[in-house]
Amino acid sequence: MSRLLIVSNRLPITVSYSGTAIEIQKSAGGLASGLKKPHETSDSLWFGWPGDVSAVPRRQRAELETTLQELRTIPIFLSHQEINQFYEGFSNGVLWPLFHYLLDKVDLDSVQDWKTYVAVNRRFAETVCHHYRPGDTIWVHDYQLALVPGMIRERFPKARIGFFLHIPFPSSEVFRILPWREEILRGLLGADLIGFHTYAYSRHFATALLHVLGVQTEVEQIRYQERLIHLGAFPMGIDTEKYSSLAASSGVQSRCSDIRQETGNCQVFLSIDRLDYTKGIVRRLLAFHQLLIDNPDLPGRVRFIQVVVPSRTKVESYAHHRKTIDELVGRINSTYGSVGSVPIHYLFRCISDEELVALYLATDVMLVTPVRDGMNLVAKEFVAARNDENGVLLLSEFAGVAAEFGEALQVNPFDVEQVSNKMREALLMSIPERQTRMQALRRRVFTSDVHHWVQAFLDKLDQCPQTLSETAFSPLEAIQQLTFRLNQVPQLVLFLDYDGTLVNFRHTPQLAAPDQELLQILTALSHRPQTEVHIVSGRQRQVLEQWFGTQSIGLHAEHGCWSRYPGQTDWASNYQAPVDWKTRVLPILEQYTAQTPGALIEEKTAGLTWHYRMANPEFGPLKAKELQVHLVEVLSNLPVEVLKGEKIVEVRAQGVNKGQIVQQVCSQVASSVAVPVAIGDDRTDEDMFLAIPENGVTIHVGETASLGTYRFASPATVRYFLRQLITSPTGTHSTAVAAG
Ligand code: UDP
Ligand code: G6P
Repeated sequence: MSRLLIVSNRLPITVSYSGTAIEIQKSAGGLASGLKKPHETSDSLWFGWPGDVSAVPRRQRAELETTLQELRTIPIFLSHQEINQFYEGFSNGVLWPLFHYLLDKVDLDSVQDWKTYVAVNRRFAETVCHHYRPGDTIWVHDYQLALVPGMIRERFPKARIGFFLHIPFPSSEVFRILPWREEILRGLLGADLIGFHTYAYSRHFATALLHVLGVQTEVEQIRYQERLIHLGAFPMGIDTEKYSSLAASSGVQSRCSDIRQETGNCQVFLSIDRLDYTKGIVRRLLAFHQLLIDNPDLPGRVRFIQVVVPSRTKVESYAHHRKTIDELVGRINSTYGSVGSVPIHYLFRCISDEELVALYLATDVMLVTPVRDGMNLVAKEFVAARNDENGVLLLSEFAGVAAEFGEALQVNPFDVEQVSNKMREALLMSIPERQTRMQALRRRVFTSDVHHWVQAFLDKLDQCPQTLSETAFSPLEAIQQLTFRLNQVPQLVLFLDYDGTLVNFRHTPQLAAPDQELLQILTALSHRPQTEVHIVSGRQRQVLEQWFGTQSIGLHAEHGCWSRYPGQTDWASNYQAPVDWKTRVLPILEQYTAQTPGALIEEKTAGLTWHYRMANPEFGPLKAKELQVHLVEVLSNLPVEVLKGEKIVEVRAQGVNKGQIVQQVCSQVASSVAVPVAIGDDRTDEDMFLAIPENGVTIHVGETASLGTYRFASPATVRYFLRQLITSPTGTHSTAVAAG
């Protein structure tokens, strides 16, 4: 039977040792508390770290393993060094602050931390692979394991893998700071579906893909290495039933009355956070302080309960943060406290679910004011617990949950004065207004609970088609069969496009010069018996002459405007008409070049090309579209055509196209049994494919739509194919492995 394999750094339980007995506690944080119920109610296995178990004596290890097995968890143990470098170092000292926009806390200096991050991710992936059975669904969670999807994919190319990021994905401008940005993105692209809490995070991810890897996202879909990957926003929900029924239970009700009694006539503010600098605790305390300063009537009439759950205490920035909070609480309490009471009740510890819900219930105003937070489940729990439809939620606009909670009182946590004013507004809010807001929030929380979240994600993952059947690359066997067939034919005529076909694209056209390997392949092909080789390119003739002038091959420049046949040295022009239209087109191209940093113009005999490969990857294509529309409008009555190619817009004389060259060459080849083979990667090569006679072969390079019968992944595959024509021209079937 197929199973769900949940993979997260931390297991839902954390193990510790008291000196005599093993102790099992629920893990802190949204991921663990959110996924707990789905794990309990499904046939899943959960892979993760059970915490530092080094203190557990050897004789009690078996007991520990049995306990973990009963909970359907597969432990991945971390050594002290791994905890230090993978968990505290790279995960929480680099990725966590970077993804939360807290750049001053990012420590990029330890390459060793990165290496350990890779090694631990590898171990997680291997452990999952060890347990994986075909048909299982693998669901990897969070930033600590970004490389795991790619690593599992290497081993099981057909596995169904989902990834969910529980923290924000930052703007690409921030993400690009990361020296290991490419590795992180490629690791994530191992998944079939990548989920985020909000649409904004998903957009940031798509922009990072474009800027860092040059990978385009179209309507939440990415074509990458012969696979289709999906993106989506799946706002995480909570186990609403649990919080609502706990709130209705007599135990919690009675604990709530006790708290109310303890707080007397005071109105109560509450905050519950893991100890984390992203939670905005310091600014919140400052805002509370401001509230007391601005409203002399309030001290003695308000109480602020701040629960801080210990977290990552060994990371230096966390320890430092704790100290700052301690000092600030002390300062405010010493100024506004009395012998009998203090304004801030500060608890630094974990609390039980019952205590948590009793606090939610006893509260007038819940303060959730992180400076940045992926989602924030505390806000949702508070709402689910308020069966009485009372209580005000003051919410930071920088928490993911703000995208769903329009009815909360939203604040900018950086604006201490605004937060303080809103605190007062919340205290004074009328009961009917509290109810109206709370009713709307409760509807949202109850319709999108954690079960809905799990179902929505897994349903989508299940529906994701993994392969691109219409644009799948030709398998190696098909390429080998083709070369075998071509090696039997009496005569071959090869039409080869250059850029994107024989060589990869480079930043500037001049950099894409042929390398030694390519020159050797072309020389060998030109010496192959009964073989003609033609390069049919958009490049200028001077460039082709400089690169291939000494070769005995046909050269066709500017999409067929000029030809130099094998064995000749002179170029013949295939186009004689006047090109006075250029004087109208050039100023337009110059205008767009001035508006688009990085763009450049290339002038050809019968054409003008606007290149935008070096422009901003988002802005360039926008300007190219605009330019194309502009040109079509202005030039509609002229004998030219406007076409969009690979990062270019070209205006060229009508009637000049690569198809003409194919016709011209084929009509000159004496033998009627010659087989023409055309290989190309972009729109201009489709003209060749159209002109190839029926007995010919057409090969498209890349993932875009094409008429080509075969589809190769890259220039490396083209070179492999050509080498097969050279090395086994007599029909010996080669079994070498294709490159690229
Ligand atoms: N929580 C906890 N232990 C406690 C108090 C609270 O585990 O002593 C839970 C809380 O109920 C909530 C989670 O920790 O489910 C915090 O999740 P949130 O999304 O708000 O923030 P995160 O800690 O994941 O950054
Ligand atoms: C956040 C992260 C989780 C993490 C949790 C607790 O919710 O998104 O991945 O488990 O904090 O942090 P910890 O470092 O204790 O696992």
